[in-house]
Amino acid sequence: MKNIFFTPKICATHKLLCAKYSAGMENIMEKRGAIEIENLDKAFGENHVVNHISLSINAGEFISFLGPSGCGKTTILRMIAGFETIDGGDIKIDGESVIHLPPHKRQVNTVFQHYALFPHLNVYDNVAYGLKAKNVSKAKIKEEVTKALELVQLDGFEKRMISQMSGGQKQRVSIARAIVNKPPVLLLDEPLTALDMKLRKEMRYELRNIQQKLGITFIYVTHDQEEAMVMSDRIVVLNGGNIEQVGKPKEIYQSPRSAFVSDFIGETNSFDGMIYQVQGDLATLQCESGQFMAKTTLFKEKEFVNISIRPHQVKWKEEMQEGFHLKGVVKDYIFTGSFVNAVVELVNGREVRIARLAGEGLPKVGQTVFLYWNPEDTVVMKNPAGDFGNMMENMDLGEWVKK
Ligand SMILES: Nc1ncnc2c1ncn2[C@@H]1O[C@H](COP(=O)(O)OP(=O)(O)O)[C@@H](O)[C@H]1O
Ligand SMILES: [Mg+2]
Repeated sequence: MKNIFFTPKICATHKLLCAKYSAGMENIMEKRGAIEIENLDKAFGENHVVNHISLSINAGEFISFLGPSGCGKTTILRMIAGFETIDGGDIKIDGESVIHLPPHKRQVNTVFQHYALFPHLNVYDNVAYGLKAKNVSKAKIKEEVTKALELVQLDGFEKRMISQMSGGQKQRVSIARAIVNKPPVLLLDEPLTALDMKLRKEMRYELRNIQQKLGITFIYVTHDQEEAMVMSDRIVVLNGGNIEQVGKPKEIYQSPRSAFVSDFIGETNSFDGMIYQVQGDLATLQCESGQFMAKTTLFKEKEFVNISIRPHQVKWKEEMQEGFHLKGVVKDYIFTGSFVNAVVELVNGREVRIARLAGEGLPKVGQTVFLYWNPEDTVVMKNPAGDFGNMMENMDLGEWVKK
C-alpha cells in the first residue's frame, strides 16, 4: 500500500514546514506538558470507574491509555481536560495543580472521536474559532491557522465546507484546530475509530509524525492494542478503573505482568531485528533467526526495530518463500480445544508459536519447515539498539542478505 501522505516530495516540504512551526513553539520545545496524576479517583453513583490511579507522564511523551470499552479511559481524559469533576486525588500539569481550573485555563486541548466540527463553517473558520474567541488579531489568526493547516497537510482547503470533506480530512481539521493555539498537551479520545481500516492505519503514522515534530505531550486513548503499539512511547493498560501495567510497547507485548494484560494483548511472536532494505512500504529485516518481510512506513534502513506477529498469522511450507529465510523444525504440538499450537524451533534455537485449527493437516514433529507470513500482519515497533547490544555484529548475515 502506498503511503499517500508522505511521498518523498511532500515529505521534504513537510519537514521544512514543521521546522518552521516548531521554531515558533520554542516555549513548548522547552519541555512543557509534563503531567502528574496522583491518586485520582472517580465514581458515578455506585459505579467506581477510576480507582485511585497514579501516573507520571513526561513532557513530550506519546502515551496511550489502552483498555476495553468501559474501563474508564474517556473519564480519565475528561478529568484531565476539566470536563469532568474528580472525587479525589490531584492532576498537575508542569507541577501546578489544575483541578480547580476550568477547561479553557488548562493548557490542554482535546481531539474527539467524532470530529465535533462546526458544519456550517468552512475549514479556515473551524480552525480559527478558538483564536477568534480569544480576540487574537486577524493577521495573527491567519498566520497561525495557515501554519496549523500546513502541518496537517490541508493547505489549500481553507474555503472548503466541512460537509465537503472526507472522514480523514475532517479528522485532520480537528487536529489542526486542536493544535492551533499551541497547547503543551493534546488529548486524543479514539480519534481514528470513525475511519475505515486503511485510512486509520495511515493516520497512525501521520499522528505520530505530527507529535514528533511538535514535541508536545500526546495522551492517546484507544481500545485497539495495535494502534497503541505502533504509535506510543509508553502504554498504560487499564482494566476496570485500575492501571494493570505501564510500559514501553515491547515490554507490554513481551512481558505482560498480569493475566488480564496477556489476555488483552494476546500471544505473539516477537523478533528483535534490523531493517536491511526498504522498498515502498515493505521492509526486509534481518534478525538472529534469519530474514523476513514486514510492512512499515515509519522506519528506515539500518534502524533497529521489534517486530511482532501473531501465532495464527504465521504460515509454513516445505520450501523457502520469497523474501523469507526462517528455517525451523516442528518440535511439539499443544492442543487447546479447537486450536493446535505448534512450537517450531528456528536454527538459532528460538521458538516460534503457530496456531492452526485442529483437524488441519499438520507436518510431523521433527519435520523441517520454512516460515513466512503476510507482511501486512506484522507490527513493527521502535527498538533502541541498546536493547539487544551488539547482536548484529555477531551475526552471520548469510548469503541472501549480502546480495
Ligand atoms: N456521565 C456519566 N454518568 C454515569 N456513568 C458514566 C458517565 N460517564 C461514564 N460513565 C460510566 O463510567 C464507566 C467508564 O466509562 P468511560 O470512561 O467512558 O470508559 P471508556 O472510555 O474506557 O470506554 C462506564 O461504566 C460508563 O458507563
Ligand atoms: Mg471512551
